[in-house]
Amino acid sequence: MKKDVILVVGCGSIGERHLRCFQRTGRAEVVACDNNVVLLERVAQQYGVTQFIDFNVALAARKYDGIVIATPAHTHVALALAALRHGAAVFIEKPLSTGFDKVDELRNTAARSGPFTAVAYVYHVMPWILGARAFLRSGKLGIPMHVTVTAGQHFPTFRPAYREIYYTRHESGGGAIQDALTHIANVVEWLVGPTTRLFCDAAHQVLEGVTVEDTVNVTAHNGNVLVNYALNQFQAPNEMTLQINCEGGSVRVEGHEQRWSVFRRGAKEWKHHKAAPLERDDIFIAQANAFLDGMRRKPTPLATIAEAAQTLKFNLAALESSRSGKAIELS
Ligand SMILES: NC(=O)c1ccc[n+]([C@@H]2O[C@H](COP(=O)([O-])OP(=O)(O)OC[C@H]3O[C@@H](n4cnc5c(N)ncnc54)[C@H](O)[C@@H]3O)[C@@H](O)[C@H]2O)c1
Repeated sequence: MKKDVILVVGCGSIGERHLRCFQRTGRAEVVACDNNVVLLERVAQQYGVTQFIDFNVALAARKYDGIVIATPAHTHVALALAALRHGAAVFIEKPLSTGFDKVDELRNTAARSGPFTAVAYVYHVMPWILGARAFLRSGKLGIPMHVTVTAGQHFPTFRPAYREIYYTRHESGGGAIQDALTHIANVVEWLVGPTTRLFCDAAHQVLEGVTVEDTVNVTAHNGNVLVNYALNQFQAPNEMTLQINCEGGSVRVEGHEQRWSVFRRGAKEWKHHKAAPLERDDIFIAQANAFLDGMRRKPTPLATIAEAAQTLKFNLAALESSRSGKAIELS
């Protein structure tokens, strides 16, 4: 089968992972673009790929089947619009953006243009999320009523450069809400429907060298479902527990255990579902394969631009609520 030509724009932390994982699908010829010349040179050497320092020069040089946008969030929409004008399928890192500017234009252009588009909310390909979602949709436990999420990790351990990247400012997608909570808010919306109202309390508690929030509590309504999130980025354990309580029992996802579980009303214990352990790259290879499948018009679980635009509303409402101290209704 002919390989798809995939341009990765932004080859920093996650862009390099995309580059490597698209390569590892065996289905893609990858090209690298980053405006940091030292980083670009190292990545191009290491993976043996063609390199471009300038996105527009890369677009003019040849035709790409797909473009992965892995730059900081405030640059995503403009780059995605240019990628769509090029005629490529577009895969945009989360969050979709840091504001609503040109988001409707992006949605309309994507809807009108032929090629596939998706947003890289990577939880959508995690088997423990997919298993829980399929089970919830079977309706065996009745309607979800209440969701609780507890999550956290020691961010400096996983991202030692956090003081030098987009993370330091809300304007470039930084802080716990846009960086970490957005993944979980998006997946909760995917499981039980869009957020309609929220109140957010957030603060900078621990992380040195930054002032953005590293700790967040959100209480939300997703329609008739009540949702509660507690997340921080300094705790020692790297854990995420998401529990969906339905009339007939509860479904629990433990990301750190890579498992989902069911406790039916009347049962004595949890019934766990756990597959073979996965490395982080395995998940990103699955995500790359899903995108390549989408380019061939196969069904995929990937987040749509419309879903990511809804989660952008969550992000911005959470920031506004934490600033104003007021609950926000999401339109
Ligand atoms: N899905 C995940 O698990 C995950 C993890 C980390 C980051 N992210 C998201 O990915 C995005 C990038 O994050 P990161 O941690 O890789 O950041 P990073 O700072 O490590 O890398 C971003 C890169 O983009 C390059 N860049 C910026 N503007 C450019 C442009 N116009 N043209 C070419 N290159 C440009 C920079 O030089 C830099 O190398 C963010 O939106 C972030 O939220 C997602």
